[in-house]
Amino acid sequence: MSAQARRRVAILISGTGSNMEALLASMDPAADPEHPATPVLVLSNDPRAAGLAKAAARGVPALAVDHKPYRGDRAAFEAALDAALEEAGAELICLAGFMRILTPAFVARWQGRMLNIHPSLLPRHKGLRTHERALEAGDAEHGCTVHEVTAELDDGPILGQARTPILPGDTPDLLAARVRRLEHRLYPLVLRRFAAGDRTPVMLQDD
Ligand code: GAR
Repeated sequence: MSAQARRRVAILISGTGSNMEALLASMDPAADPEHPATPVLVLSNDPRAAGLAKAAARGVPALAVDHKPYRGDRAAFEAALDAALEEAGAELICLAGFMRILTPAFVARWQGRMLNIHPSLLPRHKGLRTHERALEAGDAEHGCTVHEVTAELDDGPILGQARTPILPGDTPDLLAARVRRLEHRLYPLVLRRFAAGDRTPVMLQDD
């Protein structure tokens, strides 16, 4: 596919960036010449995020918009995000471990064009500590979800889920590692389909 025809993707992170790396690897033209998307920016709200150097090492523009100077003024922080996104010509956003809550106004501007990955089988366990909560609840299975972002936190149409059974002896760390591996499979699959206009949910099972 020609570079001009590809959807331009920005990936927003706050930390390690392992999902970002999986997404970048999947869009590498050497790996998938027909991929319908291309990364144009990796953006972090934390200048210390390890993912920034990983993106730069892959030749993808990487930028921090530190949220701290904007404390108390989310709209100004998001205006700075929007300026960077516009400068990069981003058409789609993938939230990949981006740990700031976005305002309804920002979400409305990107509605239908912004995806998120969440470490649980939504609608179960919205919010934080999802692996602990799945264990505490005695759930039989756990996993991750990619969904479109809407104004409600960890809500919005589900585009894909990957499931793993909860096993005797599982701990939050063991579950987190298993779910992380599933995330790295699921998010690239969903993005590839979404960028091509296919919103049919993808369902994966741990193997
Ligand atoms: C991922 O497990 C992602 O699902 C989670 O943060 C981690 C980021 O890891 N996101 C959330 O909890 C969002 N509410 P990564 O930086 O290695 O991709």
